[in-house]
Amino acid sequence: MKGIARVLALGCLLALPFAAQALDHVANGKAKAQSCAACHGPDGNKPIGPDFPILAGQHADYLRKALLDYKSGARANPIMKGFAEPLSKQDIEDLSAYFAAQSSQLQSHR
Ligand code: HEC
Repeated sequence: MKGIARVLALGCLLALPFAAQALDHVANGKAKAQSCAACHGPDGNKPIGPDFPILAGQHADYLRKALLDYKSGARANPIMKGFAEPLSKQDIEDLSAYFAAQSSQLQSHR
């Protein structure tokens, strides 16, 4: 038992810096997400119309890929290209973490 407790404690210690880093991304992302609110809603949950996707609760990996693809042109959309173009890798990490951490309206209304 002692062995297991020690392994668990070590696991928690090792995980801490990663958890803290994820929280940093979310906090930074919240500030950066203000420029996205006009179309996607303040927390990515209230887009202004059916052509504007809900970002809240989407997987961070998916959001990151979408933003990188708009930036590179692999995903062609003139509106989002304009917004993804100036984003740094750090911005994309932060924004993806932020929107992924928001609970999706779709889920909460189930
Ligand atoms: C002027 C309106 C507008 C603004 C501002 C805007 N977007 Fe978008 N966004 C769109 C539209 C329209 C789409 C759908 C484009 C498409 O069909 O690929 C979209 C799509 C996306 C997608 C893909 C979602 C999916 O489900 O595939 C992501 C991610 C995204 N936007 C992130 C952002 C972020 C981050 C910001 C702020 C930096 C932002 N957007 C600002 C209009 C906007």
